[in-house]
Amino acid sequence: MNIPLTNLGKQKEQIWDELWPLWERIIQKSQYINGPEVKQFEEEFATYSRIPHSVALSNGTDALVLALKGLGVQQNDLVITVPNTFIATTEAISVIGARPVFVDVDPDTMLMDPDQLQACIERLRSENKPVTAVVPVHLYGQMCDMETISDLATRAGLKVIEDSAQCHGAEHKGNPPGYYGDAATFSFYPGKNLGAFGDAGAVLTKDAKLAEWIKMAANHGRQEKYTHAFEGTNNRMDTIQAAVLLVKLRYLEEWTNKRIENAACYETLFNGTEVGTPCCKPFNRHVYHQYVVRYRQRDQWKEKLQEKDIAAGIHYPLPLHLQPAYAYLGYGKGDFPVSEKAADEILSIPVDDEILTQSDLP
Ligand SMILES: Cc1ncc(COP(=O)(O)O)c(C=O)c1O
Repeated sequence: MNIPLTNLGKQKEQIWDELWPLWERIIQKSQYINGPEVKQFEEEFATYSRIPHSVALSNGTDALVLALKGLGVQQNDLVITVPNTFIATTEAISVIGARPVFVDVDPDTMLMDPDQLQACIERLRSENKPVTAVVPVHLYGQMCDMETISDLATRAGLKVIEDSAQCHGAEHKGNPPGYYGDAATFSFYPGKNLGAFGDAGAVLTKDAKLAEWIKMAANHGRQEKYTHAFEGTNNRMDTIQAAVLLVKLRYLEEWTNKRIENAACYETLFNGTEVGTPCCKPFNRHVYHQYVVRYRQRDQWKEKLQEKDIAAGIHYPLPLHLQPAYAYLGYGKGDFPVSEKAADEILSIPVDDEILTQSDLP
């Protein structure tokens, strides 16, 4: 690929000399599980994120499941989220027997629309439905309007779990993911802004008890060796992955600033064209996990780019309420028009390293 969507090879080159001695030590000592790098990563990620407690986990989906469970979401509860996200958000809700309820997104940011959330809470409450939590998704690298969302949720007595899989280092009004909600969950899937060499995830929270419960639940409910306070499961982060993340975390700000600079170049490039650039709210720090433009003839442009060996993606081509997996929820076409229209027009173009130039315009 001439220009990949994420240049993971370049990142690997940058970190390899620092990573290899860590890996050698882990392998020499056979500390593959719960090695000291896991705790060190938890501490450094919490410090970077300015949230007191961090639990390193196996992936972002498990992080969501454990945060929901730890906050008391149960079978048959209703959990409000958006259809414009990756299916992991709603899988985590369904896996514990709860049921996702969708609200549409804001047409500018494509993130949870607080007005829609308010209307949904009022409707569910008036129907006496068991709604217990909200999962706003900080998609593409920009945080939702968390001040308003957490205010609405708190007044309705709902827990807030911020799906922060795509927004390492983002801010809303100067505050990080995990500041407004009860917990923020992260994915370190390789292509994320902070990505492991495989699967990994984390939960950040201000609540020490919740962090302790998640830590135990992810390690078979273990109190001490072969004593289990409750039945948990295995959702631990491997030491090998913690080492990758520790080293990469040192570069995250540099890499994020490069994305932000590239986004500014795109603003100039697309100025005066029919390509719609992403709306970054002035009080947000957008970390451009994906640089998502909107263009009516999106498919033709995507093909043209692919012919030039330039990667482009669609995040996501089919909103969740129209996915076959969610037919049982009973939604149909037209239920969430903003998400549906976005799905037809959005295109993610390279932003982390090399970017498009004048000759690549549609
Ligand atoms: C918005 C969102 N939520 C959750 C996840 C799940 O993370 P993981 O792949 O680490 O399980 C992802 C990963 O792609 C994501 O993009």
